[in-house]
Amino acid sequence: MTDRSVSARVARIEPQRIRRLFDLATDHDGDVVHLELGEPDFPTPEHVVDAAATAAREGETGYTPNAGIDPLRRAVADRLRADGVDADPDRVVVTTGGVEALYLTLLTVTDPGDEVVVPTPAWPNPFSQARLAGTEPVEVPLSPADGFALDADRLIDAIGDRTGAVVVTSPSNPTGRVFETAAMERVVEAAARHDAYVVADEVYHELAYDRHPERLAAVTEYPERVITVDSCSKTYAMTGWRVGWLSGPEAVTAAVTKIHESTTSCVNTPAQHAALAALTGPDEPVREMRAAFERRRDAIVDRLREIPGVSTTRPEGAFYAFVDASDLSGSSMDVAKRLLFEYDVVAAPGSAFGEAGEGYLRFSFANDLGRIELGLERFERMVREGRGR
Ligand SMILES: Cc1ncc(COP(=O)(O)O)c(C=O)c1O
Repeated sequence: MTDRSVSARVARIEPQRIRRLFDLATDHDGDVVHLELGEPDFPTPEHVVDAAATAAREGETGYTPNAGIDPLRRAVADRLRADGVDADPDRVVVTTGGVEALYLTLLTVTDPGDEVVVPTPAWPNPFSQARLAGTEPVEVPLSPADGFALDADRLIDAIGDRTGAVVVTSPSNPTGRVFETAAMERVVEAAARHDAYVVADEVYHELAYDRHPERLAAVTEYPERVITVDSCSKTYAMTGWRVGWLSGPEAVTAAVTKIHESTTSCVNTPAQHAALAALTGPDEPVREMRAAFERRRDAIVDRLREIPGVSTTRPEGAFYAFVDASDLSGSSMDVAKRLLFEYDVVAAPGSAFGEAGEGYLRFSFANDLGRIELGLERFERMVREGRGR
């Protein structure tokens, strides 16, 4: 008899491996250094918090339209237009974080049985979302030899008539890579040929260090095939506020707005006012945070390069160093567990980001320099003591 305690659809979703490490760390005594974190360690800017408090006090506590409050949709469209995207407030939907934007988009642009193509290493959520949507995620492993650059040829080979969507994240979590514009344009062209959409996950767009990345919808010749996903979480240190959005063609945003009623109706109202203040207020807090991340990025990479037997490329964006630890013995999960249990440091195992991540560890630099230094000192001890070999 089939076990009907939960649906087969949900039963086949694996818990995230990053979360598993975090849970193990919660039960672990000692002065644990957290380098697995996926959220800025800065407070939400004061003016943003004030805007939410004021909104709540002034009675902005009811439901809003499914697509979000008009001034926020306008602010999102203005920001995207400043980056060259042909955005319109009527084609923006405010969602519960980038996560919900991605999920609703996948539900909207794919049918069960379709394929969702994802270059990896990649943040794992789109995989489980694709499965929940009844589609098949297809991993396209990128090559470590060229720092996990977007290999358009490989990706194009994986795109066909069964492809419903391609999810491209730049800057990338976990590699910090900013994908080359020309390669991304070729991917959109291939997707367009097969009537598929490209979902551009740009939640780290404002956290790029060496150059300001281009938005995919701004550079492609097929903007009608691109759906841009972004959020307040990483840019404004607002992960817990849960405000994100998508912008794309009318047919898609109208359909997303329709199903938003069935999922969350609308985003938390005071949080939408907070997001509005974040997008329209002073940019100094973002600039300061980016500068701090850049200093840490350089410090973490320089420090990692002193450790024999491991290597890393300098991430161009986001706040992760993706470290080749394949000389250490065992799987990346084994190494991450040993690092936690014996050296009190939490890092994310590379296998959490797909097959292409095996042999790697992701160290987040969303922690202060002192803690990062302590964590890497312990990591170095593990490597030098040969315990990792
Ligand atoms: C690549 C990527 N996309 C999207 C998200 C979603 O973030 P949020 O839902 O907080 O906007 C994350 C969060 O870690 C991420 O790393």
